[in-house]
Amino acid sequence: MITRISGAVVEAIDVDKPKMNDIVRVGDAGLIGEIVRLHEDKVVIQVYEDTTDLRVGEKAVNTYAPLSVKLAPGLLGSIFDGVQRPLEKIMEESGDFIQKGVNVDPLDTGKRWKFNPKAKAGDEVGQGSIIGDVDETSLVKHKVLVPVGISGTIESIEEGEFTINDTIAVIKTEKGKSEIKMMQEWPVRKSRPVVEKFPPNIPLITGQRVLDTFFPVAKGGTAAIPGPFGSGKTVTQNALAKWSDADIIVYVGCGERGNEMTEMLSSLPKLKDPKSGKPLMNRTILIANTSNMPVAAREASIYTGAAIAEYYRDMGYNVALMADSTSRWAEALRELSGRLEEMPGEEGYPAYLSSKIAEFYERAGRVKTLSGKTGSLTLIGAVSPPGGDISEPVAQSTLRVTRVFWALDASLANARHFPSINWLNSYSLYEEDLKDWYETNVNKGWSPLKMELMGVLAREAEVNEVVQLVGYDALAESDKLTLDIAKVIREDFLQQNAFDDIDAFTSITKQYNILNSIKRLMEAERKAVENQIPVSRFQGIKAKEMIAKMKLVTDDRLDDYVKEFDGALGEINAKKEAE
Ligand SMILES: Nc1ncnc2c1ncn2[C@@H]1O[C@H](COP(=O)(O)OP(=O)(O)OP(=O)(O)O)[C@@H](O)[C@H]1O
Ligand SMILES: [Mg+2]
Repeated sequence: MITRISGAVVEAIDVDKPKMNDIVRVGDAGLIGEIVRLHEDKVVIQVYEDTTDLRVGEKAVNTYAPLSVKLAPGLLGSIFDGVQRPLEKIMEESGDFIQKGVNVDPLDTGKRWKFNPKAKAGDEVGQGSIIGDVDETSLVKHKVLVPVGISGTIESIEEGEFTINDTIAVIKTEKGKSEIKMMQEWPVRKSRPVVEKFPPNIPLITGQRVLDTFFPVAKGGTAAIPGPFGSGKTVTQNALAKWSDADIIVYVGCGERGNEMTEMLSSLPKLKDPKSGKPLMNRTILIANTSNMPVAAREASIYTGAAIAEYYRDMGYNVALMADSTSRWAEALRELSGRLEEMPGEEGYPAYLSSKIAEFYERAGRVKTLSGKTGSLTLIGAVSPPGGDISEPVAQSTLRVTRVFWALDASLANARHFPSINWLNSYSLYEEDLKDWYETNVNKGWSPLKMELMGVLAREAEVNEVVQLVGYDALAESDKLTLDIAKVIREDFLQQNAFDDIDAFTSITKQYNILNSIKRLMEAERKAVENQIPVSRFQGIKAKEMIAKMKLVTDDRLDDYVKEFDGALGEINAKKEAE
């Protein structure tokens, strides 16, 4: 029976056999709630739905199970709320506003899927073994896994069309028989087991030049995108969802404004996968929690997303999860903690904020799955610190555990330099791990090349300080050259328009070719300067014009541009002779 209600937090007595994290149906409406604290005589429940109509004295009934996700074919293309309720179906049933206590299956239980067995009677199987597959969408084969905790000998397995609740196989275990269905459940707050984690030595290729070249994230890695209001967090996350070479995308829209989410929900399903031309939703799962949805569901949303993402990783896929924004998630945590009357830590956040953030990012990794396959889960979280000041607790706790930092910068955004990722403050701790991959798969000269050009950008910042003091004209020609080349790197390489069809994605070889052209431009100009040609002569030259065009041409035409660029390079020194 409910004895006290404080927003999303409810106290109750007489709940049967209460355990931490048990899901309880709260009130006569049967709202979903989770036990978050146990006292001798009462329990404290965090409710995932709007509690305004709840009354003291109403019942609270234990379901004896933790908050879990249902895992089966049909997840891809779905849009869920933070506790895996299908938003579209709920809206169909209860109108635009989500009715409370509606009990809707997250997945279609009537749909029949063609199950293709990949194991036969008599086979020994262990937990996580793949026993068959289903064509879930035109892009993804769904592997049916033996649930964790079950192993034994297959007694029977059937080919045919089944619903997710039909028995497709029977496994004889030590304890008896287990009926296997295509649907299994997993408690969201617990990470799914793996055999081992591999070193993060393969990049997640994103097609975003500043990221892939200078601040790469590994498959199975972690990255944070902190940035002030309007600096490009969402556009960057969307570009990653659209272009990165992950097989599966889980996008958690967390507490963003309703209209922003609606825009995303209406635009994403229309997008096509650039590689296959098929709808992007065929490999995507959206979890949406706008700021007007209950805070507790928002708190749960990143775990729901992580559990689903791990499930696809366990099939041997490369999965990327984007959370936008983890600050809104942390605010939900803070609100709930306040309701629980916990001792507040820094800026009102609970003292366990950083361990929760660390636990979340620990779920990332490139792993050997229980079935022996290799899969990965990459976690990329946007952080929106108030006023853009990253010294606050959420940004700090995040930066302590994530290994890539993409620093979005308001002044760059104001100057319309997009993506407004600050090249001097950002970093990737995967650079060393990924060096071999780039040198083997792109070019042997990859690392020195990018280091040299990053050096030019760093030097530019120093020269700019000198300019402040003495003015441009007083600079040595070599310093003017630095500024000249840095401008080319910034404008023709770092800046990338997410809304231009060709510019939105740059293959890694093309990134190399543009960079290499810039380096050769630099060498030619340097030689010319040694020959007493002033840097002012390099304005508007053909070679630069060719570099500027490279990002806007398709890969198959790039060679022609590079050739024309080569021809134009000669012109730089020829200027001297013409005098
Ligand atoms: N790569 C890009 N190419 C072109 N324009 C961009 C790019 N990134 C950001 N922009 C521009 O900046 C605007 C704001 O970006 P975005 O909505 O991603 O910011 P945000 O950091 O998510 O903001 P908020 O804090 O409000 O959520 C976009 O609407 C777009 O006009
Ligand atoms: Mg945003």
